[in-house]
Amino acid sequence: MAENQELAKRLQEIRREVSDKFAELTSAQSVYELRKSIMDSKVGRIGSLMREMGKIPAEERADYGKRVNELKNWAEQQFNELNERFKQAELEARYRREKIDVTIPAPAREIGNLHPVTLVTNELVDVFSSMGFEVFEGTEIETDHYNFTALNIPEGHPARDMQDTFYLSDKFLLRTQTSAGQIHVMEAKKPPIKVISPGKVFRSDDDATHSPMFTQMEGLVVDKGITLADLQGMLNELVGKVFGEGTTTRLRPSYFPFTEPSVEVDVSCPFCNGKGCSVCKGSGWIEILGAGMVHPHVLEMNGFDSEKCTGFAFGIGLERIAMLKYGIDDIRNFYINDVRFLKNFDRFD
Ligand code: PHE
Repeated sequence: MAENQELAKRLQEIRREVSDKFAELTSAQSVYELRKSIMDSKVGRIGSLMREMGKIPAEERADYGKRVNELKNWAEQQFNELNERFKQAELEARYRREKIDVTIPAPAREIGNLHPVTLVTNELVDVFSSMGFEVFEGTEIETDHYNFTALNIPEGHPARDMQDTFYLSDKFLLRTQTSAGQIHVMEAKKPPIKVISPGKVFRSDDDATHSPMFTQMEGLVVDKGITLADLQGMLNELVGKVFGEGTTTRLRPSYFPFTEPSVEVDVSCPFCNGKGCSVCKGSGWIEILGAGMVHPHVLEMNGFDSEKCTGFAFGIGLERIAMLKYGIDDIRNFYINDVRFLKNFDRFD
């Protein structure tokens, strides 16, 4: 009897002790941790009670087991209730915290549009593709060889000064012309060649009609019997599509080291249909590109027999085309990133 009372007292003590600990719990996590430590069968205050069974005299064991079980069940129930309560409270707090008011209007996202130079590039790529041209994308950093030497502009040649070059080192530079791409194409392909190469080019130049970075589209056609008439026929087709039917071109003699003969190409003014207006300064014509027959020396340097094949090349300034197409008078508008300007160009144009 005395032992029973002793046991009852001990269990009562444990219950009180555990109750005190319950009072300190603050979260489902703390419930979990306390449960683990108290119910642990080796070291837990309650969990370890069963291990003492062996020390209890045989006739009292049943009673001991029953009482310990009662205590265990009581503790389990407390843990479960506490766990439920904290979990519920935590969930509610989370709902409050993460509440989304679906009735608040979402901030409007403005749809961007393509840059006017990109629009023009895409349009020209489309037109040239329809004429059977492939696209070659060169690199903006070039070697002196591709940008100059292989284009018949050896070191010391005065034509190197025609373009103010940004040199990166003795050997590397920012390409001043997409013509560098001509050489890569001739190295990689055999005639018939029909390639365009759009991309950024760089020159130390900056005013209303010149930007230190601008965009060109190079064209190269090499095959048997290609003539300047083929160039003009193709260009007439191009300007008709870009500026409207009836727009035409004229060729004026010019000079480029890598073409012979060389020409500047004017387009009939799309604003006045060639009658003369302020845009074309009364002349009816506007210059849009440089071109010419690929210089035999350039063909030979690249392993082509200039007796057997000929070719033409051209380089179009794409900002120039965009300025004419959209009526823009200062090239710097393209690159100062004023959204009010850039917004004017519909992506579905
Ligand atoms: N690369 C020349 C320039 O940038 C243009 C050009 C290209 C001329 C191809 C002739 C042939 O001025």
